[in-house]
Amino acid sequence: MTEINITPEKIIKDLPTRFIGQKVIYFPRLDSTMEAAKREALWGAPAGTIIVAGEQTAGKGRLQRTWISPMGGLALSVILRPNLEKLPYMIMLASVSVVNAIWSAAGVKAQIKWPNDVLIKERKVSGILIENDIRKNVLKHCIIGIGINVNVKVKDYPDIASIAISLSDLTGKKVSELEVLRQLLIEMDSLYTHLDDAEYIFNIWKNNLVTLGQKVQATIGQNIYKGTAESVTSDGNLILRQSDGSLIKIIAGDVTLG
Ligand code: BTN
Repeated sequence: MTEINITPEKIIKDLPTRFIGQKVIYFPRLDSTMEAAKREALWGAPAGTIIVAGEQTAGKGRLQRTWISPMGGLALSVILRPNLEKLPYMIMLASVSVVNAIWSAAGVKAQIKWPNDVLIKERKVSGILIENDIRKNVLKHCIIGIGINVNVKVKDYPDIASIAISLSDLTGKKVSELEVLRQLLIEMDSLYTHLDDAEYIFNIWKNNLVTLGQKVQATIGQNIYKGTAESVTSDGNLILRQSDGSLIKIIAGDVTLG
């Protein structure tokens, strides 16, 4: 039986954050922390509130995909209310925080695949989903959902066995989900306080991108664009140089390396 090592009390005990994680809502089992976070946000939960699930029965991924989210994985959503113009930096803040938390808690170096997949050995260890509620040009809330394969045996899940990796698979031992979570909250809190200096966050994110300089294929709706990932703009878009020498800007989509 998997031992539950995460409780709200343990998460919050002496947590040295000023803002993120100061209110914790924990569910042993939940459909999706994104849905719960949306409800809490609409009911007025303070920014910085986190919703954590032991396991999710309907975990949501990007581009209408599902996110396999059994016990042993980390699944949380964070409610934020930054200024509208800071929204592009939320992707950067989240992915850099995941990379740093994995390093601090497990001693493993991860990298970011544009825009916000976190990879180890070219396999996905973490996914990030951001959902914003913007009405009449006013941001009501931004919800950052983060899933990390901490102690998931990815071999048990055929759909992801060849493309995912977990920290326990990699290190050969159990990694504390609680420690990964607490480090994640500390990293997010620290970067959130740097939001006025967005260039600082942008530079760390850019330096952790595995995508730059690589041949990539970007799928946007029905269209596929191939080229070399040349650079990123300060608001996070990917600049691709196609084989005819032309440049295109990729704002959102799915990018595969190689
Ligand atoms: C992706 O890579 O497609 C994004 C995956 C995001 C998964 C997380 S797990 C916590 C939060 N709740 C969800 O239902 N999804 C996000």
